[in-house]
Amino acid sequence: MDIYGQYKDSLEAVMRMMAASMERYAKAHKDDSGELIYEHLRYRLKSEKSMQAKLEARGLPLTPCSALCEVRDAIGFRVVCRFIDDIYKNISRIKDLPGITVVKEKDYILDVKSNGYRSYHMIIEIPVFFSDSKKPIRVEVQIRTIAMDFWASLEHQLKYKKSF
Ligand code: GTP
Ligand code: MG
Repeated sequence: MDIYGQYKDSLEAVMRMMAASMERYAKAHKDDSGELIYEHLRYRLKSEKSMQAKLEARGLPLTPCSALCEVRDAIGFRVVCRFIDDIYKNISRIKDLPGITVVKEKDYILDVKSNGYRSYHMIIEIPVFFSDSKKPIRVEVQIRTIAMDFWASLEHQLKYKKSF
């Protein structure tokens, strides 16, 4: 079974387009300033298994519609930079990308989570034309420094280990 059904190819295409746009602004920034706006960019389409687990945990039907409409991180990007200033430069570049709409922002850098987690999260929407309709595809972007990323992956592994 494919949880993304008929939308899988479009999701992958949207993800690649978004990655290309982000690589382009990084190159422009490097050409202008000689600086790296981010150290690295990672992205993924949430695996079939994780998406099913998330839908099950939320008691939602295992359909492409819930995977796209109820869950906001089928497509996820992580921007990892050196300094906190760079996080805000990336946010501004992302907001300037043509055609995208920011639908939600969470600043866990100013409002650090009680467990110590820090990162800037954005949910953006990109309009996509399908044969029968136009649908906004959501993308979750997490922007953090190398230090925040290191902490978050250790904390994630600890949480994961504890559940065994
Ligand atoms: P989901 O957790 O994705 O269902 O969404 P949410 O509404 O709780 O959104 P939030 O922006 O708080 O978190 C989105 C994602 O950020 C999570 O799926 C994790 O990847 C990451 N994240 C949030 N909080 C933590 C945390 O405390 N530790 C770690 N390691 N990652 C976190
Ligand atoms: Mg998530």
